[in-house]
Amino acid sequence: MLSKSLHLLLLLPAALRLAFAQTACNNSPDLCQRAYNNITHLGAHDSPFVRDASTGYSVSGNQYYNTTVQLQAGVRLLSAQTQTNTTSGQLSVCHTSCSLLDAGTLRSWLREVNTWLVANPNDVVTVLLVNGASSSAAEIAAEYEAAGISRIAYTPTATSATEEWPSLQSLISNGTRLLNFVATLADNTGAPYLMNEFDYIFENSYQNTAPTDFSCTANRPDSVANNTSIALASGMMPLMNHFLYDQEALFEMPNDTYLATTNAPSGGVGNLGSSATQCTDEYGRAPTFVLVDFFNVGPAISTVDRLNGVTAPVGRTAISTAVMNESTSGATMSAGLNVLLCLTVLAIGLGFA
Ligand SMILES: *[C@@H]1O[C@H](CO)[C@@H](O)[C@H](O)[C@H]1NC(C)=O
Ligand SMILES: *[C@@H]1O[C@H](CO)[C@@H](O)[C@H](O)[C@H]1NC(C)=O
Ligand SMILES: *[C@@H]1O[C@H](CO)[C@@H](O)[C@H](O)[C@H]1NC(C)=O
Ligand SMILES: *[C@@H]1O[C@H](CO)[C@@H](O)[C@H](O)[C@H]1NC(C)=O
Ligand SMILES: *[C@@H]1O[C@H](CO)[C@@H](O)[C@H](O)[C@H]1NC(C)=O
Ligand SMILES: *[C@@H]1O[C@H](CO)[C@@H](O)[C@H](O)[C@H]1NC(C)=O
Ligand SMILES: *[C@@H]1O[C@H](CO)[C@@H](O)[C@H](O)[C@H]1NC(C)=O
Repeated sequence: MLSKSLHLLLLLPAALRLAFAQTACNNSPDLCQRAYNNITHLGAHDSPFVRDASTGYSVSGNQYYNTTVQLQAGVRLLSAQTQTNTTSGQLSVCHTSCSLLDAGTLRSWLREVNTWLVANPNDVVTVLLVNGASSSAAEIAAEYEAAGISRIAYTPTATSATEEWPSLQSLISNGTRLLNFVATLADNTGAPYLMNEFDYIFENSYQNTAPTDFSCTANRPDSVANNTSIALASGMMPLMNHFLYDQEALFEMPNDTYLATTNAPSGGVGNLGSSATQCTDEYGRAPTFVLVDFFNVGPAISTVDRLNGVTAPVGRTAISTAVMNESTSGATMSAGLNVLLCLTVLAIGLGFA
């Protein structure tokens, strides 16, 4: 019986098999009809800044796995910071400074995202750029166009939080599966798909150094700071930052020694699951985005699945939940640390997350 149905499946035309495979949106058929702002998207904080062999296990890395692996494992929001590489003059994805951690040009990173999106036609992905280079919309759009990714970017109908967000299925059917926010971009003339983040999203504080620091209270933009109910009433989508920086470090380095608790679905002060529950209670709705460092640990996705009511995700590649500690990386780490210390003075006070 089983082999018979298997046989039938193999006989199905490729297109029809594809149609079956595509009934899930963002890893679950249950999410297809839900509005973009009525699900929770797992975000990889500083997605391109990887702490692995390719960066000599840079202490400036916020993720152990690259953007492609993140997407394959269920991450659907990618945050990154742009800076100008002063040597090449190119708009790049760099952590605070291109001398600290240069993950290449913005267009090459966007190309990586595009490659994944083309291979995964039933997924909706969000890019959140911290506009560290203070680029104009035209400059950022040039990167999107060079990467061939602007063609699937979603253009909002409203320039404010009153936007009525389509369902995931509508975004997919319409070929507008990439949502793009920039912090900040006052004028998006010429590239209306580049949305000024704080017109649509509010965030809790991201500068946390102790597990007791996490708070759900609106912190940015200034217009709604400490005024969460106003932010919610305006229709802004909640983005919940949930990562810890090292207490002692002058430069904002991720705290990886407490990571297993920070990203855990439950157990221990400041775990992701409890914070998500608390924010859901305070907001009267689940956060739209949850942004974490080292997303594989926890695993963070299990909290997001719980918020989404997803119990049987499909199409993900399982990934190790291990913390890669200093001993994993050895001598290369200290080399990275020397560079880091030289740049500490430069980085302090710039306020780049
Ligand atoms: C999300 O959708 C559910 C039903 O699917 C609804 O009860 C809830 O109010 C919606 N929440 C938001 C914030 O849109
Ligand atoms: C991402 O990481 C995987 C696993 O290490 C590797 O195979 C792949 O080439 C990397 N992709 C990019 C675009 O760097
Ligand atoms: C800038 O880009 C150049 C050329 O691609 C590259 O060699 C260099 O490592 C990058 N970073 C800095 C800090 O110049
Ligand atoms: C789909 O695209 C059409 C044509 O661009 C547009 O009129 C419509 O509003 C879009 N629908 C959604 C849900 O984005
Ligand atoms: C928000 O509240 C905190 C703590 O009470 C305070 O330090 C901060 O200045 C307030 N921010 C604004 C914009 O009111
Ligand atoms: C919140 O915003 C409302 C409307 O702007 C204002 O009346 C109120 O004082 C604010 N509350 C706080 C705590 O800032
Ligand atoms: C990380 O946070 C934990 C919990 O507060 C703390 O005990 C530990 O010292 C921190 N690690 C570093 C390297 O700051």
